[in-house]
Amino acid sequence: MEVVIVDTPTDAVPIVADAYSKLLTEKPDAILGLATGSTPLGVYKELIRRHKEQGLSFAQARSFNLDEYVGLPEGHPEAYATFIRREFTDQVDFRPGAVKGPNGLAEDLLQAAIDYDNEIVDSGGIDLQILGIGSDGHIAFNEPMSSLGSRTRLKTLTEQTRADNARFFDSIDGVPRLCLTQGIGTIMEARHIVMLGFGENKADAVHACIEGPIMAKWPASALQLHPHTTVVVDEAAASRLEEHDYYKTTWSKKPDWQSI
Ligand code: GLP
Repeated sequence: MEVVIVDTPTDAVPIVADAYSKLLTEKPDAILGLATGSTPLGVYKELIRRHKEQGLSFAQARSFNLDEYVGLPEGHPEAYATFIRREFTDQVDFRPGAVKGPNGLAEDLLQAAIDYDNEIVDSGGIDLQILGIGSDGHIAFNEPMSSLGSRTRLKTLTEQTRADNARFFDSIDGVPRLCLTQGIGTIMEARHIVMLGFGENKADAVHACIEGPIMAKWPASALQLHPHTTVVVDEAAASRLEEHDYYKTTWSKKPDWQSI
């Protein structure tokens, strides 16, 4: 696991956007794993800029969202399918149908989860997965105690996650209780994972997941077993890291030719 500590969230943007540019240059038909939440928004804005100003193209790429609320009507502004289209994919040149997400309106939610997982595997697998981290260490909607080998499935959100996400809704009552989410086992099959964490309210989770034991109580700790994960955090989110200075030195001495 490579840990990159930057001064501010803005400083993380070119590092992560460069990973997309490099991948799409080498493999234009790459499979991208997309995350919602506020954390990746700066990266998406930069990718849109690179598309408009530098011709970065997603025309041959495909994408899979990590998760979806259950029961939000189609087009609801906080449905993750709507969010990702509005904040990113509709502003670049993905082909129609190339942007996928779990179907939180399916009649048979359990089957929809299995079908979605199979679709990811059948696509050849995700090349680059971007992740945020919840204040309780969740990735996608894999809440604490999720099986570290889990596949895409129906989950119940914790009250903490509902409270964290209530800021996007009129009140907490509007936040769904159920979701479909890629499992930790599903996410772990991505070839390169970039997890972002910004702000002091992520500091405990970042510390526990990077430097603590691998345990279901801290879902993102599973990433310690992944062969190519890059964690990019700002100083606030890194404030509890015990090996802070080592991570800074390693990054500052990294050869120019070596990307994340
Ligand atoms: C939600 C999403 C996660 C995201 C997390 C953090 O629960 N399902 O994928 O990482 O929120 O959100 P934010 O980036 O807004 O802090």
